Parts: sequence; C-alpha cells; structure tokens
Amino acid sequence: MSGVNEIRGKFLDYFASEGHEIVASSPLVPRNDPTLLFTNAGMVQFKNVFTGAESRPYDRAVTSQKCVRAGGKHNDLENVGYTARHHTFFEMLGNFSFGDYFKERAIELAWRLVTKEFGIPADRLLATVYAEDDEAAVLWKKIAGLPDHKIIRIATSDNFWQMGDTGPCGPCSEIFYDHGEHIPGGPPGSPDEDGDRFIEIWNLVFMQFEQEAGGIRHDLPKPSIDTGMGLERIATILQGVHDNYEIDLFGALIAAAEDAIGTDARDADGRLIPSFKVIADHLRATCFLMADGVLPSNEGRGYVLRRIMRRAMRHANLLGATKPVFYKLVPTLTREMGQAYPELRRAEGLIMETTEAEEVRFGRTLARGLSLLEEATEGLDKGAALPGETAFKLYDTFGFPYDLTEDALRPRGLTVDRAGFDAAMEQQRAEARRSWAGSGEAADDKVWFAIRERTGATEFLGYDTTVADGQLAAIVVDGKEVETLTPGTEARLVFNQTPFYGESGGQVGDQGVASVGDTRFVITDTHKVADGLFVHRGALEAGELAVGDAVTLTVDVKRRDAIRGNHSATHILHECLRRVLGDHVAQKGSLVAPERLRFDFSHAKPMSTEEIAAVEIGANARVRENDEVDTRVMAIDEAMESGARALFGEKYGDEVRVVSMGRDGNRRFSVELCGGTHVRRTGDIGLVVLTDESAVSSGVRRIEALTGEAARQYMANQRDRLRAVASAMRVSPDDAAARVEALVEERRRLERDLEEAKKRLALAGPSKAEAAKTVAGVNFVGRVVDDLPGKALKGLADEAREAAGSAVVAIVGRAEGRASVVVTVSPDLAERFDAVALVRAGSEALGGKGGGGRRDMAQAGGPDGAKADEAIAAIAAAMEG
Ligand code: SER
Repeated sequence: MSGVNEIRGKFLDYFASEGHEIVASSPLVPRNDPTLLFTNAGMVQFKNVFTGAESRPYDRAVTSQKCVRAGGKHNDLENVGYTARHHTFFEMLGNFSFGDYFKERAIELAWRLVTKEFGIPADRLLATVYAEDDEAAVLWKKIAGLPDHKIIRIATSDNFWQMGDTGPCGPCSEIFYDHGEHIPGGPPGSPDEDGDRFIEIWNLVFMQFEQEAGGIRHDLPKPSIDTGMGLERIATILQGVHDNYEIDLFGALIAAAEDAIGTDARDADGRLIPSFKVIADHLRATCFLMADGVLPSNEGRGYVLRRIMRRAMRHANLLGATKPVFYKLVPTLTREMGQAYPELRRAEGLIMETTEAEEVRFGRTLARGLSLLEEATEGLDKGAALPGETAFKLYDTFGFPYDLTEDALRPRGLTVDRAGFDAAMEQQRAEARRSWAGSGEAADDKVWFAIRERTGATEFLGYDTTVADGQLAAIVVDGKEVETLTPGTEARLVFNQTPFYGESGGQVGDQGVASVGDTRFVITDTHKVADGLFVHRGALEAGELAVGDAVTLTVDVKRRDAIRGNHSATHILHECLRRVLGDHVAQKGSLVAPERLRFDFSHAKPMSTEEIAAVEIGANARVRENDEVDTRVMAIDEAMESGARALFGEKYGDEVRVVSMGRDGNRRFSVELCGGTHVRRTGDIGLVVLTDESAVSSGVRRIEALTGEAARQYMANQRDRLRAVASAMRVSPDDAAARVEALVEERRRLERDLEEAKKRLALAGPSKAEAAKTVAGVNFVGRVVDDLPGKALKGLADEAREAAGSAVVAIVGRAEGRASVVVTVSPDLAERFDAVALVRAGSEALGGKGGGGRRDMAQAGGPDGAKADEAIAAIAAAMEG
C-alpha cells in the first residue's frame, strides 16, 4: 500500500523526471488575485504565467498545491462529513505546461502515470472530453486505446474549467475510475452519474482562453496545460478503499480524535461517524489556514476560518466532548504532513494556542446556544424552517455562524429561514447606521461609514506579505465618492484587501504604489477609518482607475522593513526600561516611523548616563540573541492573564494580537498587545542606538532611538565628526579628547596671562608724576583704559593708589562701547572723600545710574563708553565739591 506521502512524492518525481520544475505550493491566501478568497486549484499561482503577464525560468512545472474550497465560489463546507469525498482543505497534484506541450503530450503523460507508475488497470478507467473537442477524443483513442464508449462527450460546464468569474480557462478532459459494479451509480453524463461508482480522479485542462469580466473571452498567447488530481482521491484507489476518509492520513487523524474525545469513530456497521470526518477535515483546513496567516475573526477570510473551526467544535461536542479537544489533534497533523509542509511545524505553537482559545471562547456559549436551538425547534416538523430571527440571535449572541445552525438542523430534516436571518441582520445594521448618523460625525466620516457598510472591513494582508492584489472598492475625491479617476487627481482609495498598514498604535501608515498595466497610483499614506476601513491616500500619476478594477498593491518594502525594526525595538526598549528603572515604567505613547522611534514612559526624573547605557546595552543584547518574534491571537482576558503589557486606557476588542520576543529563562522577554508589524527575528533589528532622553511633561520621559541602517549612519556620522576634530588638531581620534582638554586648559592660562599683560600695559602709561594732578589739594590719578575686563579694574585701581601713596584714584575701563568706573581713596583721605559718592558722579557722566561699594572703594557702570574722559572730569569736579 502507498501512503499519501509516497503518492505525493511519486507524482512530483515522475514529472520532475519528465523535465518539470518542482514548485512549492503557494499560500492559501492568493497574493495575485483579489477576487479569490482562497487558493482553490494548482493553477492559481500560475495564473499570470498562462496569460503571459509573468514569465518564469521554466515552462513545465509540477506541484502539490494546498487548496481550500470554503466560503467562496467553490464552497464545499456544508457537504463535508456527509459524503465520501468533500473536503474544505485538500491537496491538488498537478502538472503544468506554459506554452510548451499541449493536449497530446498531456494525455500521454497522464495515461502512463496512472496505468504504469500507479499500476491502475486500464479497464477500470474511462475519459470524458468536452463535447466539441474532437481532437481530445481522437487522442484518447490513439494514446490510451480506449474504446469509443469509454470516451464520453460532455457538453456542460463540467468539462469546461474556470477558476473563477475571470481568468484563464479552457475545455477539459477528465479521467474516471470505476469502483466496480457493487457500487451504485452510472458513468459520467448518464442520469445516475451522481452515484459513487464512477469517480473523477484527474482533470486535464487545455488552457486556451482568458475570461474577462463582462463575458469577453480572449485566446491565450500560447495554449497551455493545467491538470489537477485530488491527492485524497487517488489515494483511495491506490489504497483500495472507497471513502476518502478511509485513507491512511485520515486514519491517523481520526484515531487521534477518538483518543482525545474517548469514543469510537465507527458505528455498529463499521461506518465512519460523520462528525469524525468533519473534525478530521476541518482540522486540516484550520491548521493550514493559520500556518498561512489567517486567524479567526469576524470578517472575511478569518470568518470563514472561524466558521470551519466552530463547526468542528460543535461536532466534537456532539460526540460528547465537553472540554477543548480540537487543539490536541494538531501535533498528529504536524507529524503526518509537517515533512511536506514545513510551515505547519513552524506555526504549530501558534495554531495550538489559537485553536484552544477559540474552543474556550466558543465553549462558553455553545451549550446555551444549543439549548436555545433545542427549545426553538421543539415541535417543528421535518421540512420546517427555524425562524430567521432565532438563527440571528444564535449568531449575534451565541457566536453560531449561520451555516453551523444549518448544519445542526440538517440531521433532523429542518432548515433555516434565510430571508428572515438576512432581514434581522439588516435591521441591526440599520440601527448601527442610525447611531452613527445621529452622533454628529463629520461629513467626511459619513462617506467612510457608508463605504464600510457596503464593503465590510478591509482585509489586511500585510502581516504576511508586502505585495498583493486588491480590488478597488471605492474612490473618494474631496470627500465624495466617484466612479473613476483621471491622471493628476488626488484621491483616497479603499480596496477589499491590502498589504498596506494603516497608521495605528504609534506605527505610521505604509507608502507604496497601486499599479496595473500603465496605471500608477502613488500612495503616500495609509490610515484607518470607520472601524477597519483602510484608506490609501495618494495621487494618480498615469493611466486610469475605476471602481471594480483589480490592481497590484506594492508596499515600499525598504521603508516598511525599517518600520518593522523600529517597532520591535520599541518593545524591547520598553522592557529594558522597566528592568533598569523599575516596574513603574509604563508606556505613555510612541512613534514608530521608518527613520526613528520615540517612546514615552512614566518616570519621575531624568535618566542618568549609566541608566541610558544599561538600557542600550540590554536592548542590543536582545537583538543579538536573534530570537524569533511571534504573534498569537488571544482573547483579551487570556492575554492579560499571560502578563502581556497593554496600554492603560486603550480600548481593545475581544480578541487581541499578542507579540512576544526575546527569552528570559523559559519565559518570553517581552510580551505586548500590539497590532503592528514586526521583524521575524530580533537580529533583524541590527543595532539600537539611544540618541536622546528628555522630559515630555511632569512624570513622563521620552527616549529617542535609531535602529538598523539609520543607527549605523548615526554612528558613522559621529565617527566622522570625531575624525574631523582629531585631524584639525593633528592627533589620532583616540587622543582627541585628551588634546581638547589640554587645549581648554591652555586657553584658560592664556586668558589669564593676557589679562595680566593688559593690566601691566595700562599701568605702564604716563609716569606717576604726569598722571597725578592735584585736585582739591590732594593727589588725584584719573585714567582711562581699554579692553580690560571689568573685574580687573579694581586690581588696577589698588595698584595705582599704592603707587601714588596718598591719593584718590579713578579708573574708567572701556570695553565694547560700554564703560565701568572704579574709584578708590587712600585711608588717610577717607575722612574727606567718599568713593561711593565720587563713583556715582562718574557713572552719571557715562549715562548710568547708581554704583556701590565702600567709602574707600566703589564701582559703577554706564552705557556710554565714549564719555570716559568726561567721567574722570566729573569725578574731579565732585572732589572739588
Ligand atoms: N484547474 C483544474 C481543476 O481545479 C485542474 O487543475 O480541476
């Protein structure tokens, strides 16, 4: 018997040996198609290769593609569990030719693989062709030798494959397997074709056209091949079973579920109980979706995931599980499929935690909801419908997705009044609308609320990718919605999904471009309005845009990477600050921009140089640890219990993202509630440099920091400045500081010397005899000196008086246009002359007022240095009395 893993391997190897490149499965969230909810076929990732818009270094490829068919055009959710072959998640094996081989070679390769490599007897096989495709019919006869009655022409869309409403498509040919007469059912195209006897195993699409919106169909540049074989189906045949859920892989998952729930998976007849199939299938969809970045939520893809999870959880409950069990099955799936899909292993922790949290949350209302359902359906006859209002109450109050209610009623032959449900939903919306319309929101807001209501919240893809296609849902110019946009116009755009981060939580919005063909809309800012609507502000540079257009949204990655580094560094710094300064440190605000980060926190006094150094050293140690940064989605109370740091006073929803990084023993170093974008590993931050510490308000400090390339540049600038200083002083940078200190010291000394020299110069003026005059019968020395600091005048006056013996000395010093005057009187004359009165007379002449000191020594100033001689004369006059 071949296990699923061997069959997958054999398929890939076979086509590799036929010159096909083995290409990894693309993610379940398609990046290149905004109209597609989930990847639903192998060709999705090659869509643009078929149309010629993209080229690859190979023209043949083989893949095993993860697919989900739930919630979109291809939706199998409600059938899962009740049939042998429906899945939400499955793997599609496929080989592709991009303008290389076409029909003939495709049929040859397929036939040989099925009959020779897999060894399926040819007489068990038949083929269908599109009714008009004579060529294919002839080829099947020639290559496979199938008799005419085993080449069945089908005129319906069953043999014309389309990925969605638009995209590459073409006629197809399917290989069927006959499970044998003991199983009821007829061949394809016959009235009882829906029976289980003839099962399609492989679809070969002859890709020839591209379907455009509006019914137009073009020829593809080169006819190509896209094939799809459900791995689970081929496994049933190779493993000799009939039901997909009987293959080895599901056997392992179902055994794990039996263990966890504690009941048998089979009924008395040995048949699998539907609930086990549901659990096994939904487990795969849940894990693979989460591994590709989808997390349960109330909108968009997240809501499809939530519906799948809650459906599985109800079935576990139906089997008797009263505690969370679903999450316990995750490791079994990782063991079975983790080798082929390593993303499962990487995300295992996230998947388990998120799943358990969802089970706990739903578990709280499940029992009460079910008993409400019980009551409401009591006495309803088979075929009756549950009132829509009750279904809505189950949805709104108890978290029962619509299809879960439907699923719960199905075994009892009851349905749900869908119209009533929709009406109740619409009424709730209308009330919400009234409340915002009545709340006096700005006119601008009304536009956004109207758009929000029509389109739902924007799905944010930017945690996992920076490039994705989005469908233009609204164009707003000058506060009004318009249908089209012409070049040169500034506008704000809303898409159904976007990789652009909308400014929030301190992190600035993304910039980048929206483009398609020659159309370019440059996005300069992204922000969020009206509860989850992402608004892209910018201007159309070239081309045209119309509502409904699909465009490629490309975030400026360099800028975003810088933002990521700064955001993760902010978390690390927050925790470092707390450890260095104490537990009172709480975040008060932050700015995370590409070029820098800023973090405000509660702390009463300036940080010391040592504290700043300790924070910087600690942060860089965390960076070098290079620990993985991971994100969980948790219920808010659960997140708070786990010790995650939240912003006080911030409003959080029921569910929050929790970002952790760094290690501290077996705990995480930093755990914060955060919706921002982060690096993958702390090492990506590169370097953290604190550049400033300051006060914001009383009790709140701010640090500013740089990371990565900006930090390097900053350090390089500092180094270059030091080099410039060193070279100007002709020393090495190492000696620069000592040299500067020496220079400062030398300068101080030189200043002192200079002062001394000037004083001496001043005194060395006219001789004692010349200088001294007799005024009022005593010696009077009056002198004007230039450019001597005010404080030096006293010393000069003392020296002059000592030299003169018994004398009155007046010195006026002039500097920068102003003047100071000092008067000193020798002790023997102190009875007759008061220095204070004399200095005032001098000061008055200089245009000043006042002056002070003692009787023997007084000093004053005045603005008018040009009157220095008059001041001396005024003092002499005052002596005369
Ligand atoms: N696209 C086709 C399908 O999904 C063949 O891969 O069936």
